[in-house]
Amino acid sequence: MVRSSSVLAILSSLAILATTTSGAVTTSLENCLQKISGLEVVVAGDSSWTKAKQAFDLRFTYTPKAVVYPSTDSQVQAAVKCAAASSIPIAPRCGGHSYEGYSLGGADGFLIIDVTKMQTVTVDQSTETAWIGAGSKLGPAYLSLWQSGNYTIPGGTCPSVGVSGNALGGGYGLLGRKHSVLADNVVALKFVNAKGELLQVDASTNPDLFWALRGGGLGSYGVVTSFQFKIYQISSPVTAFEYSFPASSYKKVMQGLAAWSPSAPEEVTVELNWGASSFDLTGIYLGPKSNIPSVMNKWFSIIKPSSSDVKEMSMIQAILKFTYMGTTDIQALSLTTGPGPADSRYYAGKSLLFDKATFSDESIEIIHKWLPKYKQGYIIIDVWGGAVHNQPSTGPNAFVHRSQQYGIEFVSEWDKDKCGDCLTWLSGFFNEMLTQYKKEYTVVKAYQNYIDRTLPNWSSAYYADAFPRLVSIKKDIDPNNIFRNPQSIPVSL
Ligand SMILES: Cc1cc2nc3c(=O)[nH]c(=O)nc-3n(C[C@H](O)[C@H](O)[C@H](O)COP(=O)(O)OP(=O)(O)OC[C@H]3O[C@@H](n4cnc5c(N)ncnc54)[C@H](O)[C@@H]3O)c2cc1C
Ligand SMILES: *[C@@H]1O[C@H](CO)[C@@H](O)[C@H](O)[C@H]1NC(C)=O
Ligand SMILES: *[C@@H]1O[C@H](CO)[C@@H](O)[C@H](O)[C@H]1NC(C)=O
Repeated sequence: MVRSSSVLAILSSLAILATTTSGAVTTSLENCLQKISGLEVVVAGDSSWTKAKQAFDLRFTYTPKAVVYPSTDSQVQAAVKCAAASSIPIAPRCGGHSYEGYSLGGADGFLIIDVTKMQTVTVDQSTETAWIGAGSKLGPAYLSLWQSGNYTIPGGTCPSVGVSGNALGGGYGLLGRKHSVLADNVVALKFVNAKGELLQVDASTNPDLFWALRGGGLGSYGVVTSFQFKIYQISSPVTAFEYSFPASSYKKVMQGLAAWSPSAPEEVTVELNWGASSFDLTGIYLGPKSNIPSVMNKWFSIIKPSSSDVKEMSMIQAILKFTYMGTTDIQALSLTTGPGPADSRYYAGKSLLFDKATFSDESIEIIHKWLPKYKQGYIIIDVWGGAVHNQPSTGPNAFVHRSQQYGIEFVSEWDKDKCGDCLTWLSGFFNEMLTQYKKEYTVVKAYQNYIDRTLPNWSSAYYADAFPRLVSIKKDIDPNNIFRNPQSIPVSL
């Protein structure tokens, strides 16, 4: 049963109070939530409970106290006050894709504030900005922006990833080298703090919070209810490409990458997918197909791809292509499957960021040694650089990663009950890479949107010098640490 406020609902929760064996704290939270006008509240025993407490990553089976689906800012405010009054910790949730299940709190006993009913997209062409509800997922947001005049934002490629998590932890995708991460394109936010107050957050109002949320905002400070983003109109066709190399040519491919990436134009963004027996290069170029030979020459003069698929298409078709949904109907981006995480799977990922343009022979050999050991394992090498290296026009923020040339994501996937050595493979591989990395770099850097509970010294790897300031802002805004997860910003160093 999906509950909303009504005399009946209050009566039925009183009935639960009389018969339940769960603690009084739960029921007082429930009572408080049930009184919020129009709020959808889901608790244990309701028919939608199993779906409500499911994460994208099916490994996680945390049990919240309740999941609520507000559709207005004031419902978010009221729900926060209910949890704060009962000292129940809160995890906001958008796309549910946190690598560690942190939008369920990363533990039992949280109030989950799922913002996915808040998806309104409003474009202002005169300022080239758009307000996007914090519950929007990337696919539907891309579609709406496109339909409002060929606009887009530079976010991630997976359509079911939430705009919120993507923007608050960075957000890197097809336009990354031209327009940087999504966090850098946030102009303003609407935000509910731990007291349940609704705040405007921008460069001149609550500037500390504005700095912190862009890069350090993953579940630590409060609930963002909407974002204002800078938007980009892309009406000329772009060139989308996919190339393959024989996996046995990995040394040459990596040599080509090193020769190419330092001087590659910002108009091109690529990613390399290296698996047990495949090595693919995908990306887009903001320009005509006829320029591709010169754009890729420094790489392809070292190794020629064994197959290629290079096509001009509209920006929205390119976005759709790299969702791998296997359709050319852009309506697919609307993901009309309703609220809640879609396309769930068993998945684990880790990351490292590399400043140097050339990977050492040692690290290339470690990758080559480990990939064939696990069939559903692979790495994704993202070529960062370009605009990511510049501070955004709205001023510096807590996204500190400004000098890396590459990010590597290490991924393991598996089928239900068939993990086998899926996680030991991943940690064995990663640990050997990390040991080698530490020989080459004095500090470890990793990407907070691939959040990793077992990463040593994660606060430094994700936030570097920004961490002490993030902590002091946290202490001001949420001293009781109501908004938390195992890797949220703590109230003291
Ligand atoms: C299949 C897959 C593909 C991906 N592809 C990319 C990619 O191309 N580029 C890229 O940069 N990243 C990518 N990611 C990583 C992704 O950006 C992060 O996992 C991101 O944090 C997920 O956001 P979400 O809203 O879906 O997740 P959630 O699990 O809902 O949220 C993530 C974190 O943010 C917090 N949060 C959520 N909503 C709010 C809110 N409104 N206010 C405050 N805090 C909030 C949550 O509490 C949680 O701690 C991918 C992840 C997956 C699983
Ligand atoms: C939008 O983009 C498409 C394809 O790139 C183009 O054909 C069309 O003219 C553009 N529309 C506007 C309003 O610019
Ligand atoms: C964590 O990283 C910082 C910055 O690189 C370093 O100074 C510190 O010694 C590290 N701490 C541990 C425990 O490794």
